[in-house]
Amino acid sequence: MTKTNEEVRSEVRTSYAEIALGDTSCCGPSPTQLGYDATELAGLPDEAVMGLGCGNPVALAEISEGDTVLDLGSGGGIDVFLAARKAGDTGRVIGVDMTPEMLARAEANTARLGIENVEFRQGLIEDLPVEDATADLVISNCVINLAPDKAAVFAEVFRVLRPGGRMMVSDMVTDGPLPDSMKDDPEAWASCVGGAIPLTEYLDSIRAAGLIDADVLKQDGPGPVFSVAVRATRP
Ligand SMILES: C[S@@+](CC[C@H](N)C(=O)[O-])C[C@H]1O[C@@H](n2cnc3c(N)ncnc32)[C@H](O)[C@@H]1O
Repeated sequence: MTKTNEEVRSEVRTSYAEIALGDTSCCGPSPTQLGYDATELAGLPDEAVMGLGCGNPVALAEISEGDTVLDLGSGGGIDVFLAARKAGDTGRVIGVDMTPEMLARAEANTARLGIENVEFRQGLIEDLPVEDATADLVISNCVINLAPDKAAVFAEVFRVLRPGGRMMVSDMVTDGPLPDSMKDDPEAWASCVGGAIPLTEYLDSIRAAGLIDADVLKQDGPGPVFSVAVRATRP
């Protein structure tokens, strides 16, 4: 990759700002293809169901009443709102996203739902605006592939999780190195391909951050680029 991390983030931000300001995605995979159940989506605003994910981390996360949950790259808020139902009034869900237009969309969706146990914060997932050891669970849906510094993301996940806290993420990975041309192509990055790394490297990066029991719960594929659901725990 010949671009700086900030150049990559800026291009990704521009793409997602356009998506946030547009209509709900018409041509991506349907929510059911991504693993959502029609009944769980009932009651969510259409503007929250944008078809931008690559799995359903909330369904696999085993969220309990009272949990504090953090969603990395929360987009229009779909997984924040689903997690909020499970965390209940005594729990809290925080969505972090770097794109102001996406945060505005998520805030508007929160107002439509009239719920109070969610909060959206602007920030990078490589430098989370969240205090140390405060989250029971970190979830994320198709976002870490978009981050140019994945080691920093997993180090941040370790920092914000309480000891014993868990990470449950859906993401895109590869079965080998991508061609260099793709790693420099802004459209390939924004469509969750250009920044995807080999699954083995992804798991190694999670372990290098100090998280344990890194495990693939679900996987589409085989590759060359496929979605996975990965969990890990802070010891
Ligand atoms: C593919 S969308 C997924 C949105 C949401 N998780 C979903 O499933 O609908 C990626 C989101 O991550 C955000 N994002 C990408 N890179 C980020 C980064 N480095 N830090 C914070 N947010 C980021 C984008 O602004 C966008 O809202």
